Amino acid sequence: MCGIVGYIGSKSIESVLLVGLQKLEYRGYDSAGMAVLNGDELVTRKAVGKIAELEKLLKSSPLIGNAGIAHTRWATHGEPSTINAHPHLNNQKDIAVVHNGIFENYAKLRAELVDDGYVFVSETDTEVAPHLMDKYMHEGFSSEEAFVRMLKRLEGQYALAAISEKAERKIFFARKGSPLIIARGNNEYLLASDIPAVVPIAHEAIYLENDQWGYITPAGVTIFNGNGEKVEPAWQAVSLSVEDVDKGDFEYLMLKEIYEQPDVFERVLKTRLDDTFIHFPELKFNKDYLARIGRILIQACGTSLNAGMIGRMYLEQFAHISAETDYSSEWRYRNPLASGDSLVVGISQSGETADTLAGVREAKAKFMRVLSFLNNVNSTMARESDALIELMAGTEIGVASTKAFTAQVLNLLFFSLYVGSIKWLLPAEERRELLDEIRALPDKMRQILKSHERIKEIAEFLKDKNDTIFLGRTYNYPSALEGALKLKEISYIHASGYAGGEFKHGPLALVSDNVPVVIIAPQGDIRAKMISNLKEAQSRKGTIISIITEGDEEIKKESDFYIEIPKCAESLSPLLVAVPLQLLAYYTAIARGCDVDRPRNLAKSVTVE
Ligand code: AGP
Repeated sequence: MCGIVGYIGSKSIESVLLVGLQKLEYRGYDSAGMAVLNGDELVTRKAVGKIAELEKLLKSSPLIGNAGIAHTRWATHGEPSTINAHPHLNNQKDIAVVHNGIFENYAKLRAELVDDGYVFVSETDTEVAPHLMDKYMHEGFSSEEAFVRMLKRLEGQYALAAISEKAERKIFFARKGSPLIIARGNNEYLLASDIPAVVPIAHEAIYLENDQWGYITPAGVTIFNGNGEKVEPAWQAVSLSVEDVDKGDFEYLMLKEIYEQPDVFERVLKTRLDDTFIHFPELKFNKDYLARIGRILIQACGTSLNAGMIGRMYLEQFAHISAETDYSSEWRYRNPLASGDSLVVGISQSGETADTLAGVREAKAKFMRVLSFLNNVNSTMARESDALIELMAGTEIGVASTKAFTAQVLNLLFFSLYVGSIKWLLPAEERRELLDEIRALPDKMRQILKSHERIKEIAEFLKDKNDTIFLGRTYNYPSALEGALKLKEISYIHASGYAGGEFKHGPLALVSDNVPVVIIAPQGDIRAKMISNLKEAQSRKGTIISIITEGDEEIKKESDFYIEIPKCAESLSPLLVAVPLQLLAYYTAIARGCDVDRPRNLAKSVTVE
């Protein structure tokens, strides 16, 4: 998704805006640009490709000034090009606008403006904004009034920022559907699509709500709501540090986030578990309500739904609640049937995913209560849900979700055990054993991380393949889906995950000597069935890559490659299996020279439908 940065202050505007854009690269983009006010002169620089191209341009023709906006564009309307890059300008080039989102009525507005004599130079929806502002300013309105009138004409979702030569040292902003943050440092103010862009400078931030708009000046920030009433800024401390958003000693943020998982688990354990009791301090639902839930409908996207599929099994196993899962983009159109004891669960790392948000709104429209599992508790989804459970994974920047995924699964496990304990379902001894096993997970993860060299070797084999199949059953069927998603989204190798039992119903036809098959077969009731899958693939010359419980000599003998995980309860195995799957995808992508943190065509948070 696009990234927006704005700055007013005494620091070098170029470097602040460039660093801000670099911190937003993970959002995905294909071009970048910035516009700066130097006194009453507005100057723009834009470049297609990586931010380095914009940097080169600025080296040859630098920008100076004290107020500016910048943008990384993830193309929705119009191909990636310099002309289509933001900021977009009016014909006099004295108004600049940057935008994240989609103006759904842009075609109608464009036709109206062309009739008024405006000349469009790009193919984007965004370009209607500066021309609209220009139109109202030529009708005699001030830049602020023109900005508000422009907003009233725009339909769709957006976060946007605008500057005008007629409004020196002032940056206008508005938020409707796409996230936008206002931040402040020492006598300096910023705006950005996400918190990492402001971390180097700001120590306080405001998370704008929908329909809020306003402006920043050297004197501070002024915010209005959709009715034009002033809103008191609700400043929050920026808890993130530069280290949190930096790669540190790791080559990529994704690898850093994979290695952070044991610490994340320990953070969750510290908050959720003392002795034998499980706590959800942030959960607004009371125990009586939780005990009466008869049905849970889980809706999410991508990796978050894979976590939800594991969570469904935990809910049925440990809380005796009937649960179903569906992709948000499907669930929202299914006309889900509401009943009094139903609870809708949304799962999202960003809390800004358009389809999952739409699913929350669909549930609310049907008077269903919504509980969301979120990493970003300042997100739109956090505000629109009835209750939330915080993942505590820390900011996740790599586009491929890793620590958020395992944190989702762990929190879903704790939630299921928590509801189960309210209903007195788990015998004390069984519960104690399971909690002891959960406490051991962080160190077991650290043990797996030490086997990264073996995984690198497998990646060397995998990197030349075009297709890969992942098979798992019960708790690890979602692991197979997640392993396939990780591999395909960062290495661009086509990969599919299937329930092992489905293998003979079609996917087996794909197996040949050039199609590796990843068999997820930790110890447990279903291991024998996974061995059957292994044999089926092996007899068709498929290369076997097994993920097994350490010491499983029988499967080792039958495998071309294997990765061992420490012994654990079958229900907990997805939390450990995830790590070799993440590392396998990571090292395969590295071996193929892919940009692991910024995979092509993808964005960290899909805030458009
Ligand atoms: C996962 O690696 C992907 N980046 C993607 O599938 C992601 O999980 C999905 O877009 C949902 O994002 P969310 O958790 O922020 O809602």
